[in-house]
Amino acid sequence: MPIAQTSSIPSFLYGTAWKEDRTAALTELALRSGFRAIDTANQRKHYFEAAVGQGLAAAYAAGIVTRADLFLQTKFTYQEGQDHRLPYDPAATLSVQVAQSMASSLEHLGTDHVDSFVLHGPASHSQWTTADFETWQAMIKERDAGRTRLLGVSNISLAQLQQMARAHAEPPAFIQNRCYARLGWDREVRAFCREHNIIYQGFSLLTANQQVLRHPTIAALAVEMNATPAQIIFAFARQIGMLPLTGTSSAEHMKQDLASLSRELPREAVNTIEALAG
Ligand SMILES: NC(=O)c1ccc[n+]([C@@H]2O[C@H](COP(=O)([O-])OP(=O)(O)OC[C@H]3O[C@@H](n4cnc5c(N)ncnc54)[C@H](OP(=O)(O)O)[C@@H]3O)[C@@H](O)[C@H]2O)c1
Repeated sequence: MPIAQTSSIPSFLYGTAWKEDRTAALTELALRSGFRAIDTANQRKHYFEAAVGQGLAAAYAAGIVTRADLFLQTKFTYQEGQDHRLPYDPAATLSVQVAQSMASSLEHLGTDHVDSFVLHGPASHSQWTTADFETWQAMIKERDAGRTRLLGVSNISLAQLQQMARAHAEPPAFIQNRCYARLGWDREVRAFCREHNIIYQGFSLLTANQQVLRHPTIAALAVEMNATPAQIIFAFARQIGMLPLTGTSSAEHMKQDLASLSRELPREAVNTIEALAG
């Protein structure tokens, strides 16, 4: 059975969004299936982080993994992205909100540190603002205090990344973006990441690219390689240097997604898929 990682940087992330009452059981199942990296957020609107912690605890109790085997990633989400179930005092400064959100995440996940702490998205759609500056500085403080190993930022454009790079001495370790094939699989942001030694995490690789998934080129490759179209997409993502996410709720798809790690597409096929839609 393929294992998604044991080193410090994983090769596949299991995403826990939108699982509600099934979150704990699916987190445990993902670990039983071989995932070793979990993505969550302290954003109750879309994630049930405390239940992720219950799933982890069940896996520890069953002897499937220990904390040391795992890569745990969570996020700080601004109030605009939350509902009423906030993990911080909305009247507090952003720096305090970041610290409170982190403390709450550590409690939810039953750990004294996470491996990656991600800003869920900049405060504005077009700029890296002073709010983002304050938030990022507070996240660096969390990292320096040992509560996270690494930092990341999500839902960010190339222009915002460039502004961020000018504003801060330190680039993020991760970018996490929705990856559209029609944008050359986020080509510009991926190029920035390559230049700055940032790991690009791609989500919605299947759901945002349904047409590509049904494309005759992918279908033919899938038949040729005795794989599923989803496996072709995940293998492609890995081969172009991406760290993919899957949030499957199916035990069978968990196995298939992990098995895609050992698929090697011919270079020509990788180039064709990269140019397929944009
Ligand atoms: N930073 C952000 O703002 C943000 C936003 C969205 C998501 N995320 C993260 O990314 C994770 C993944 O989200 P996502 O948007 O990529 O969608 P997703 O929740 O992973 O949905 C994937 C879809 O693909 C299907 N699927 C997965 N593996 C498959 C396979 N091998 N064959 C066929 N179908 C397969 C799943 O169906 P089955 O369940 O039936 O397999 C599901 O319908 C989330 O859980 C979250 O952690 C982050």
